[in-house]
Amino acid sequence: MTTPTISRDRIRSIAQREAQAFLQARPQSARLAEQTEQHYLFGVPLHWMADWGTPVPLFVERAQGAHFTDVDGHEYADFCLGDTGAMFGHSPSPVAQRLATAAFTGYTAMLPTADAAIAGKSLTERFGLPFWQLATTATDANRFVVRWARAITERKKILVFNGCYHGTIDDVFVDLNPNDPSAPPSTRASLLGQVYDLTQFTDVVEFNDIEAVREKLASREFACVLTEPALTNCGMVLPRNGFLAQLREACDATGTLLVFDETHTISAGYSGYTGLCDFLPDMLVAGKAIAGGLPCAVYGMSESIAQRMRTAKEIAPPGHSGIGTTLSGNMLTMALLATNLTEVATKEAFNQIIVQQSKLSAGLRDIIDRNALSWSVTQLGARSEFQFCATSPKNGSEAETAMDAELEQAIHLYLLNRGVMITPFHNMTLVCPETSDADIEQFLMAFESCVKELCQP
Ligand SMILES: Cc1ncc(COP(=O)(O)O)c(C=O)c1O
Repeated sequence: MTTPTISRDRIRSIAQREAQAFLQARPQSARLAEQTEQHYLFGVPLHWMADWGTPVPLFVERAQGAHFTDVDGHEYADFCLGDTGAMFGHSPSPVAQRLATAAFTGYTAMLPTADAAIAGKSLTERFGLPFWQLATTATDANRFVVRWARAITERKKILVFNGCYHGTIDDVFVDLNPNDPSAPPSTRASLLGQVYDLTQFTDVVEFNDIEAVREKLASREFACVLTEPALTNCGMVLPRNGFLAQLREACDATGTLLVFDETHTISAGYSGYTGLCDFLPDMLVAGKAIAGGLPCAVYGMSESIAQRMRTAKEIAPPGHSGIGTTLSGNMLTMALLATNLTEVATKEAFNQIIVQQSKLSAGLRDIIDRNALSWSVTQLGARSEFQFCATSPKNGSEAETAMDAELEQAIHLYLLNRGVMITPFHNMTLVCPETSDADIEQFLMAFESCVKELCQP
């Protein structure tokens, strides 16, 4: 079978038809959009909510488990799951129940509760790092980690991988030149209001290129390498065999801290991707799903890093450390974190979601093969990504080259109109413990019919 050509005209005509169908079937969303347009910049509380490619924002009425219902009464199988925040299902029962009782016992006192002891023990058992701190978002946790790394190493630079995303921490938005990777990197052009030259203190190389890492770290100027163990924000890029162990060695050889941002890669298993490695990072960040989708993030550190952090704090003059926010680790958050870690994000839950994602990934691959498309599916535990390239990309540049915003949006809209939602950014699909075989079947049927329409001559 020859690879079919998907024409731009076909993509556009499908997208146009689907946009009309979306609007026609959602009068209540359209009505609410008229109201919110008057009060919100871009018509939505957070401008990303307008990134779905829908003609008006999709207004949600309620969400439970693997499903949500919009204000027009349409039900969706949710494979976006709040871009990971709800990867243990919407409103997981133990968290919901705890939330109901904790609602009457105080929210924030800037003091620890008994839940802090439970959550701390649970984090250490899960990820293997002995000490933890709280933040309110994964962005903040990454920001604090970078700050600590600089403080304890007394080095200014950090190294990241091309195509990375670690939240809106400014330091990481440095890119290689897509036309000439040997040219000097530059600050990401899309950043708004960024006045600093980020390349001054951030350098970037391709993921899976250990020689490039070694070359950079040899200068001993880098406080840390901050990375996801697999890149999940430019499509998906898995580490090559041995790459992460070599990265660990390169960091050790040069006194550079290795930081794993497991905010998304926690999908790999109970202990995140770290659990698949036979070494630990120096520091680890997790957020989004860690307290069942409520605002909470954590960062952990090894004993020796903790000791250096204590010393840095002790010798610093009195005053602001630049690390922390008032509501981080508040009473309510700690209650939900402890509950989610011990009762929801269990080994059993991970086993289940990985089995379900394997079924979804196999089904997607099968459809791609039967339709002779040069696309690939890359799975990382509970999440997968279908990408418009024949084999899984090996670095950020390859992953970005494979992206096609127009095609993505047409597919996403097509799926939405058939009761299936995936993330608006690239083609990530995530499952939660309630994702059923029927949900997966619904996804695969809609996907296949979309692919067939796209491939028509
Ligand atoms: C790997 C990674 N780290 C950190 C973040 C930031 O999370 P938040 O937006 O909750 O701060 C994201 C967000 O997508 C992420 O993908």
